[in-house]
Amino acid sequence: MTDENSPETALGNSDGSETSVRPYPNPVAGVFDDVSPVPGSSKPDPILVTNLVTKTFGGLVAVDVEHLEIQRGAITALIGPNGAGKTTFFNLLTGFDKPNTSDVRLDGEDISGVASYRLAQRGMVRTFQLTKVLSRMTVIENMKLGATQQTGESFWKSMLPIWKPQEREIEERADELLDRFNLTHMRDEFAGTLSGGQRKLVEMARALMTDPWLVMLDEPMAGVNPALTQSLLGHVKGLRAEGRTVIFVEHDMDVVHDISDWVVVMSEGMIIAEGTPDDIAADPQVIDAYLGSHHDTDMSDLDVTEIDHEVEDEFEVADKHPPGAHPSEIEAEGDVEA
Ligand SMILES: Nc1ncnc2c1ncn2[C@@H]1O[C@H](COP(=O)(O)OP(=O)(O)OP(=O)(O)O)[C@@H](O)[C@H]1O
Ligand SMILES: [Mg+2]
Repeated sequence: MTDENSPETALGNSDGSETSVRPYPNPVAGVFDDVSPVPGSSKPDPILVTNLVTKTFGGLVAVDVEHLEIQRGAITALIGPNGAGKTTFFNLLTGFDKPNTSDVRLDGEDISGVASYRLAQRGMVRTFQLTKVLSRMTVIENMKLGATQQTGESFWKSMLPIWKPQEREIEERADELLDRFNLTHMRDEFAGTLSGGQRKLVEMARALMTDPWLVMLDEPMAGVNPALTQSLLGHVKGLRAEGRTVIFVEHDMDVVHDISDWVVVMSEGMIIAEGTPDDIAADPQVIDAYLGSHHDTDMSDLDVTEIDHEVEDEFEVADKHPPGAHPSEIEAEGDVEA
């Protein structure tokens, strides 16, 4: 478990340089001490509770999650081998895919089948394994796109040069977040000129435009260089320090160990284990299903160029959309990550 008094690493800037050492308190330190490390275990104060969430693609059972509780204010890692169903599970919870069966409660309220922009209004947002930053828009325009998810308003309409108080607030919030993520110097650059890691930062910053309480990040560190990874890790801890709940998908076990309070392991659509990072690292079933093939994965081994090409392909899909399309429609269509 992450220790409140553990030393913090230096934060990297978006250009890879180092900024400062900033301590992040962990408001949920000790909260899992009495939680049993078994699949479906009860949490003291769950923000999200799911029951019988299932999804099949043809004959393939992609997701078959009986029961899961996510502790409020904690960082929960969702890990598992490629094809385990992590992204599909995220899609089902966040309104980007339709489940076969599902009962999902956010703060006790049923959110099954609720559209993604409505979930954003209710404080629940997600980012994508392959970033959805739009290359032919500037960074600040991409940020404003995040705010339209809150209102359900068309992004294109929000771009019209009508200067309303709400738009001024949106721009102020975007600038604040760009500052927080050390991206201000890229404010007016086209997002297509950013590195893969910088796009990941923009996407996380954009997700925060709606001031969410539950932030779901699908592989936020994949393909990101080590300096930027430190920056992203710092930002994730910063979200927890503000009392927000984070669920993130990650393959790198060092990253998982560094920032997670709790780890949920998926394999073949099911949750096969839950526990603290130490519990999970010592679980033979997990080692067998997952760690055996992944525990040596080093982020520097990832082919960043290949990931960049995949992202570019996604830009092509998103950019072809006609004006007037809601951003969630753009994202939903581009999110086939099989
Ligand atoms: N749109 C789709 N149509 C058909 N099969 C799909 C679709 N999306 C996902 N799948 C399949 O569902 C299973 C779960 O995929 P998913 O992308 O959720 O896994 P994952 O755990 O996120 O994997 P990774 O770690 O590689 O991102 C895989 O077998 C995948 O091929
Ligand atoms: Mg995935």
